[in-house]
Amino acid sequence: MTLATDSAVHTEHLTKIYRDFWGRDKVRALDDLNLTIHRGEVFGLLGPNGSGKSTTIKLLLGLIFATRGTAHVLGQPAGSTTINEKIGFLPEESYLYRFLNGEETLKFYGRLFKIPSKDLKRRVPELLDVVGLDQKSRKRKLREYSKGMARRIGLAQALINNPDLILLDEPTTGLDPIGTREMKDLILSLKEQGKTVLLCSHLLADVQDVCDRITILFRGKMQTLGQVRDLLQVRDITQIQTRGMTPQQLTEVQEFLRRTGVTDATITHPTTTLEDLFVRVVRENTPGADPRIAGNGQ
Ligand SMILES: Nc1ncnc2c1ncn2[C@@H]1O[C@H](COP(=O)(O)OP(=O)(O)OP(=O)(O)O)[C@@H](O)[C@H]1O
Ligand SMILES: [Mg+2]
Repeated sequence: MTLATDSAVHTEHLTKIYRDFWGRDKVRALDDLNLTIHRGEVFGLLGPNGSGKSTTIKLLLGLIFATRGTAHVLGQPAGSTTINEKIGFLPEESYLYRFLNGEETLKFYGRLFKIPSKDLKRRVPELLDVVGLDQKSRKRKLREYSKGMARRIGLAQALINNPDLILLDEPTTGLDPIGTREMKDLILSLKEQGKTVLLCSHLLADVQDVCDRITILFRGKMQTLGQVRDLLQVRDITQIQTRGMTPQQLTEVQEFLRRTGVTDATITHPTTTLEDLFVRVVRENTPGADPRIAGNGQ
């Protein structure tokens, strides 16, 4: 088994340059991306507007072709027709038929995936429950849907084929805090079912709550990669926590610490926020920006 066949997503030197009408280089949207996403992982792709997040997703789906490099998805080259039915995709903007209602939309996509009618009868209401569209909403035409409702039906559509890999481009856009919480819980429940989720977002708190690992893209280049927990750890500061100490004990502990170790105190590395990390990475890579403004300077 190699990384390309064994992982959910594996890219090597993946590069996309958009060209203009005359074939001249226009935008280097993705530059030499080497990324492996393991099966069963929730992975976050972060980055400011225009950093190459949607381009990456489109390359993985085979909707556009790479200028250079390779991408494998669920062990097959990106775009292979054999893996399409194992992938679910929630695009940045909904492209669903506005004249169908919620229920009809799911049935329509179910039929596209050749799901038998008797399975669809069970699966459609189940999914509508999962994404929180009530009995009344599911009978309304999509053109009457609010942003949040459109996001929910989009997600249900992405899950209709019970995919192994789910690509979510800005899944919480337009959702209120409750909807956002529900979307996050849903992503975690997909992980529990052993699915792999790749999610793009600017909403850092959402990413922090659900992702195992993240990468930050900036101007098409991967700037940082790692476990959320590790990336947010401030390694050169040690924090000692304990409960109900008297001032005298504190003095003694300080004295004691000087000489020896501590038994009952929890010693941890405090974390910074993902927001600080994000701002810092972007500032550090912006020519002429004042790095002192970035985050807390850690
Ligand atoms: N079809 C296209 N033709 C030319 N340039 C494009 C095309 N699609 C995207 N780009 C450019 O490629 C760069 C990356 O775009 P992409 O949509 O991948 O960014 P993104 O990280 O998803 O941004 P956002 O957060 O705004 O969704 C941008 O500079 C964008 O203008
Ligand atoms: Mg995008």
